[in-house]
Amino acid sequence: MGRWLSLRTVVIGATFAMSGLAFAAAAEPRPWLDPSRSPDERARLAVAAMTLPEKFSLLHGPMALPFARPGREPVLLPPEAIPSAGFVPGIPRLGIPALYETDASLGIANPHGVRPGDTATALPAGLALAATFDPQLAYAAGALLGREAHSKGFNVLLGGGANLARDPRNGRNFEYVGEDPLLAGTMAGEEIRGTQDQHVISTTKHFALNANETNRYTLEARIDPAALRESDLLAFEIAIERGHPGAVMCAYNGVNGAHACGNGWLLDRVLKGDWGFPGWVMSDWGAVHGPEDALQGLDQESGEQLDTSSWFDAALKDAVARHQVPLARIDDMVRRILRSMFAVGVAEHPPVRAEADLEAGAALALDIARKGIVLLKNDGGLLPLAADARRIAIIGGFAQIGVLSGGGSAQVIPSNGPAVEVPIGGHGVMAGARVALFDPSAPMRAIQAAAPRTEVLYDAGAFPADAAALAARADLAIVFVTRHELEGFDIPDLALPFGQDMLIEAVAHANPRTIVVLETGNPVTMPWINAVPAVLAAWYPGQEGGQAIADVLFGAVNPSGRLPITFPRQLADTVRPTLPNLGAEEFAPVSIDYSEGADVGYRWYAAHQIPPLFAFGQGLSYSRFIHDRLTVTGGQTLTVSFEVENRGTRRGADVPQVYLTAAAGRRVLRLIGFERLELGPGERRRITLSADWRLLGSYDERLGRWIVTPGVYRASVGHSAVELGPDGEASLARSQ
Ligand code: BGC
Repeated sequence: MGRWLSLRTVVIGATFAMSGLAFAAAAEPRPWLDPSRSPDERARLAVAAMTLPEKFSLLHGPMALPFARPGREPVLLPPEAIPSAGFVPGIPRLGIPALYETDASLGIANPHGVRPGDTATALPAGLALAATFDPQLAYAAGALLGREAHSKGFNVLLGGGANLARDPRNGRNFEYVGEDPLLAGTMAGEEIRGTQDQHVISTTKHFALNANETNRYTLEARIDPAALRESDLLAFEIAIERGHPGAVMCAYNGVNGAHACGNGWLLDRVLKGDWGFPGWVMSDWGAVHGPEDALQGLDQESGEQLDTSSWFDAALKDAVARHQVPLARIDDMVRRILRSMFAVGVAEHPPVRAEADLEAGAALALDIARKGIVLLKNDGGLLPLAADARRIAIIGGFAQIGVLSGGGSAQVIPSNGPAVEVPIGGHGVMAGARVALFDPSAPMRAIQAAAPRTEVLYDAGAFPADAAALAARADLAIVFVTRHELEGFDIPDLALPFGQDMLIEAVAHANPRTIVVLETGNPVTMPWINAVPAVLAAWYPGQEGGQAIADVLFGAVNPSGRLPITFPRQLADTVRPTLPNLGAEEFAPVSIDYSEGADVGYRWYAAHQIPPLFAFGQGLSYSRFIHDRLTVTGGQTLTVSFEVENRGTRRGADVPQVYLTAAAGRRVLRLIGFERLELGPGERRRITLSADWRLLGSYDERLGRWIVTPGVYRASVGHSAVELGPDGEASLARSQ
């Protein structure tokens, strides 16, 4: 970590010690610091004690980096700011700590390496976490992030990404947790809960409908409001109910006519009104358009040097002086920020600098990667591999170096060794982040360790003919393919870049025992699928990813990941075959009609009877699980009970999924419950799941509530959205 960081340790320690001393020595009582009072009362008391300048000081903050928009003065960061995504100064007079903000959901970021030598546990992609279908693991991930954030001096984690994977080309899908509102809301909610249990405030982001990265600053996203409530907003609603995040980060894009951070319908009506969200809305970095955004529900301007002006500083003061923004609104904004600080306990549990427990981090990264890898195809039981091959050809993907990670603000510098960076380059605001970073967990090394007597040879895959020649001389070939994806960019299509499809074809032609390992942040199309017997989706598997891949290949781990996102056969099968706005100038105003409404992902394929290549929920195991003895009961909600049995010879985990297939005479397909459970050979267990009634109904925007039509409801337990097993039905008598 070096001298620079130890100096900072002293400064931060001193700040907290000083505020503690000030508390002890203060003549005035400071009842808002009394944790036995409710967060609401504490916030009210603190607001009453604040001066107007103190109030304004909480409403905006810079990106804590030496960075300015062209033509603007660089911000002068106070010495106590930790170089990172954001900083909002505290109010020492009142014992209110500063907000030290860091990215994000996959590990504690160190943007542009501004904290030299500071590394962190690099967890697998959000999609890998989602593929575990394991809320406990999501909680553990959130808690780890909270602990590491705290140990580096941070008290706000800009995590909890809950945007639905509506477009399989969205460059940030890897950060998020899939295409289904129940799965995404549950996993994001548990992550948030885990983080906040460590006294680190978590956000949930990016609110809302930030479903594409192309022209994200100017994109106008259009959708039917009721359909939005039933899909993307439902994911956020569930995440907020489960996790109680202190803050919600509004998005860059517009939604139905107003930019998300100045969108009264989204922020005031839905989030704060209908859902009663008591915390604060912080802007995304550079997403504020003016002081009037405060009148639409925005409470705090983040990364202010990225906006065209620091809107919530002088301009907002001015608007208040001219009675355009009422003082009561300023008080409400401040109260919301303080309420979350008190609810999460950031004043009484300040970050304490310490060495992070990197071993615990590595163990969790490995656990998530192992459980999140999805075995998509395994013809003839090629996998698991025996350790007795004479020669294995490892091809491509820099598998001799490490595993790929996703880029942008979620990029983590891994704690387990030097990462290799490959600058890819390009143009656009985020072009500087276009650097493919390989976490130092080389699959080749782990494979060699798993098969010590095997000759393991590597070919870069640059020339298909060379790779094929090597594969022909080997007992089997493992082709690693990568696609770097990142914030700020969508991928234009689902193909593998740099000729990797041709590479797979050539290798599979040379050796029929070819296994493909995907390291991507989204689904891929697979023109070669019939030529290869085995395929693994490893996502961006994090800093222990190489080990996890080898463990699955050789059977040390029985694969249990299930797809949290549909893999279509071809782009033509997707909702919008051509990437909207591909080629538009970066800041040109553009729009997308999300005409599929609430039929996101598997729901859209089902509604249009388009068979996917690999379905949502799909994933193989080295065991075989069966589901039977299903009963469905009605009443207030639908309750589905069934048994799961492991008919295989290995211990393993299954993820039975309960889908609603008919609702009061209407054919539907909706995930209404899931459970990940481990069973030994021959073991059997009964599972009972009750549906969240919102998943059974629809939202009536005119009435402003959910409607569950009385009638017969049918549900089925399945292995995926297209492999449904036993089903049953029951009546729901009255609307909620
Ligand atoms: C991203 C956010 C991130 C913020 C701070 C923005 O560009 O959209 O997800 O938290 O930067 O780094």
